[in-house]
Amino acid sequence: MVTAPVGRLLWVGLIWLAGTLCWAADKPPGFALSSAHPDATAAGVEILEAGGNAFDAAIAVSAALAVVEPTGSGMGGGGFWLLHVAETGRQVMVDGREEAPSAATATLFQNDAGDVVPSLSRDGPLAAAIPGQPAALVHLAKEYGRLPLAQTLAPAIRLAREGFAVDGPLLARLAYRFQALSRSPAAARVFLPGGGLPEPGSLIRQPDLANMLEMLAEDGVDGFYSGEMAKRLVRGVRDAGGIWQLEDLANYRIKERAPVTFDVDGVRVVSASPPSSGGVVLKQVMQVLSLTHALEQPAVDRKHLVIEALRTAYRDRAAWLGDPDHVEMPIDRLTSEAYAREIAEAIDLERARKSADLIPPQTLIEEGEHTTHFSIIDADGNRVAATLTINLSFGSAFMVPGTGILLNDEMDDFSAKPGVPNAFGLIGTSANAVGPGRRPLSSMSPSFVETPDRVAILGTPGGSRIITMVLLGILETLDGSDATTIVSRPRYHHQYLPDAVYFEPGALSEAEMATLRGRGFTLKSAGREYGNFHAVVWNRSANTLDAAADPRGIGEAAVRSSSAEKVLGAAAD
Ligand code: DON
Repeated sequence: MVTAPVGRLLWVGLIWLAGTLCWAADKPPGFALSSAHPDATAAGVEILEAGGNAFDAAIAVSAALAVVEPTGSGMGGGGFWLLHVAETGRQVMVDGREEAPSAATATLFQNDAGDVVPSLSRDGPLAAAIPGQPAALVHLAKEYGRLPLAQTLAPAIRLAREGFAVDGPLLARLAYRFQALSRSPAAARVFLPGGGLPEPGSLIRQPDLANMLEMLAEDGVDGFYSGEMAKRLVRGVRDAGGIWQLEDLANYRIKERAPVTFDVDGVRVVSASPPSSGGVVLKQVMQVLSLTHALEQPAVDRKHLVIEALRTAYRDRAAWLGDPDHVEMPIDRLTSEAYAREIAEAIDLERARKSADLIPPQTLIEEGEHTTHFSIIDADGNRVAATLTINLSFGSAFMVPGTGILLNDEMDDFSAKPGVPNAFGLIGTSANAVGPGRRPLSSMSPSFVETPDRVAILGTPGGSRIITMVLLGILETLDGSDATTIVSRPRYHHQYLPDAVYFEPGALSEAEMATLRGRGFTLKSAGREYGNFHAVVWNRSANTLDAAADPRGIGEAAVRSSSAEKVLGAAAD
């Protein structure tokens, strides 16, 4: 029989062992979030501190970003909100992707000779698909939030009415899109005071957008998709040469879709499903990396394997993927282990394969970042990873008069003609052709990574490079990196065509470059840093929270947490 003090010691020892080896908290010690703008992060913190959950905070952050980061996302755009509901463990993707208007045809962006006219799908109202973000925010509030929209939209309404300060990245992108914005009198009135660029630090006020958000808070989807707002939107779009009709707005619905979920080597990844290509590409690539034991290889070989896996996955993306409600996609085959094995066997660590050279290589666009991502976890363990977009900087650069709504140019994410690359150099087939009511194929990949002891909430903007950035973020998570390392590490990218590895300064060492070139890879400097990654990491063993915003952007992370020791102590008591 053990004496009392020894028994107590044993007990304490057992608890310590459980704590260090296998104890995993079922709730975080607080909340954490990261977004691309300090004002949007503050909006999320305000709502969480007022008793809102992660879903309420996601509404506040999405709406605030629409006001203070108009280059990236907005109420005239759409996105994917990946949710984890702690109480039930349910994981769902809210698909608020834009939808092509009913008058859209496969040749909409071609001239009479059948040539693609890129400006048509990038600038002005013809480039705009029916927005999904307003409907998505109403849906989040109704189905998942605790607080009324009037409260969760309040920070954004305030920022729109009282103004927000012009920052450096905004100024740079205003300069980049100056001409297109100048052609839209409503956009110019807001963003180009007196017809020129605003002063850094000066305030941009958006009273029409504030009114629109108030209408949404009051009337829900009807405040945007029918009634006075819908009439204004359709009139404004048609007067400027667009093809929207009232029914297009009235018929818009968000869709709840099962995310792409898969387990590799004891790690679960949850990511975006079609109409995003992210999850499908990640699943195929991660399986190839597992079969080739990529994580255990020397650094240069790991990179070789990542690049080759990406080459095939982006080829398949171009060939097969589109709107799941309109095209049949062989997703089971593309993500099967047998197919991953075929790909793995075709990779030769001695030399690079060549992407099919049937299609001439194209150059990737070299403009600034747009689109936006944020990650949130609340004290109950609810999670949101959301990537939102209006596509290129300031979307179509067309603001509908009297609405404050800057419209997206998501129509450019369709394949305007088979084999002809879009703004991101991505090609496609009829699977992603323009068509009435279709949602354009996306690369946005809001993701959760769940290891035995950690949960990571990841994502970034970056067009076609989003998926490779998220992949590298997942690999960093598997390497045990902290949030700052996950968002900071230099990146490299391959997307099948152009057949080249693009890399950020510092992503490849001189020795790695020499080896990869020797194996036949074409390496090209991306010429700049890219991406704007946001990571929240909950270490369930230590019960600590960590969050980081990409140092490439001006975003901010916030963590409010009781100390891990205190929580572990409480659990041990
Ligand atoms: O949905 C997509 O894949 C694109 N519209 C995202 C655009 C984007 O990330 C632009 N950022 N650099």
